[in-house]
Amino acid sequence: MRRTEGPSALERLLARKSVGRILRSFLRPPEVTATNQLDVREAYRLWAPRYSNETTTHYLDDELARTMLEGLPRNHLLDAGCGAGARIRDIPGAVGIDLSPEMLAAGGLHSVVAGDINAMPFASGQFDMVWCRLVLGHLRDPFPAYREFCRVCMPGGHVFVTDFHPEAVVAGHRRAFNDQAGAVHEIEHYVHTDHTELAAQAGLELVATRDGAVGPSLRDFYVHGIGRKAYIRDFGLNLVSAYLFRLPRN
Ligand SMILES: C[S@@+](CC[C@H](N)C(=O)[O-])C[C@H]1O[C@@H](n2cnc3c(N)ncnc32)[C@H](O)[C@@H]1O
Repeated sequence: MRRTEGPSALERLLARKSVGRILRSFLRPPEVTATNQLDVREAYRLWAPRYSNETTTHYLDDELARTMLEGLPRNHLLDAGCGAGARIRDIPGAVGIDLSPEMLAAGGLHSVVAGDINAMPFASGQFDMVWCRLVLGHLRDPFPAYREFCRVCMPGGHVFVTDFHPEAVVAGHRRAFNDQAGAVHEIEHYVHTDHTELAAQAGLELVATRDGAVGPSLRDFYVHGIGRKAYIRDFGLNLVSAYLFRLPRN
C-alpha cells in the first residue's frame, strides 16, 4: 500500500510551496454535502461500526509519533481519546479512555474505560506518557483536557498531542464520514492554533512540534482512494500538526 521510492519530477515541482498554494486556490476538494453537523458523541456512535484507522490523517499521525517519540519511555501509557484503541492494542499495560462506548466496544480491548478526557478517573502522576491523537479538535476548549494531561502525567513524563491541521480546514477539508446507510455526516470540529500556549498555561513545556503533509508516503492512499488528481491538488498540504510536551520535574 505504501510507497517507499523517492519523489517523482512532478512531486518535486509540487513540493514548492507556491505551486501547491496556487493549485489549491482553484482546485478545492468537493464540498462535504452533510445535512447537519453531529456532536461528537452521536457522530462516533454512528461511525463506530465502520471506523478505520487506514486514513491519510492516521497514517501521518503514526509517522509523526514514530519519529517524535523515538526512544522515550512509555512504560505507563495513557491514550486519551483512544477510539477503538488501535494505537495501544500492541502495547502491554497501556490504558485508554474514550467518550464513545461504541468505539470502545468496536475495538474490544479490556484496558479501556468510557469517560471524558476533561475529567479522567485516573490517579495523579500515574503515566510517563500521555498521548491524545486527533481528538482535541473536537473540543471547543481544550484547556481543561491539557490540565488533566498534566495532572495524570508524572514529573518528567511526556504528553503527545496531534490535531487536524488548520491549513487542511482552510483548504476545504472537513472531518466527515459515511454512516452504514451511506449518508455523509460532518463532525463537530474546532480549529485550534494555540496548543502550545494552552499547554504552557496548564504547566507543560514544549519539546518539539512538527507538521505532517501530503507527500510520496501517502501517494498510494490517494491513488487507490480519492484519486490522483486529489493527490496532486493536496501535495504539500499539512493535514496533521503534532506537539510533544514534557511535564517539568518541579
Ligand atoms: C478521530 S478519533 C481518534 C481516535 C484515536 N485517538 C486514534 O487516533 O485512532 C477521535 C476520538 O476522540 C473521542 N473523543 C472526542 N471528545 C472526547 C472527550 N471529550 N473525551 C474522550 N474522548 C473524546 C471520540 O469519541 C473519538 O473516538
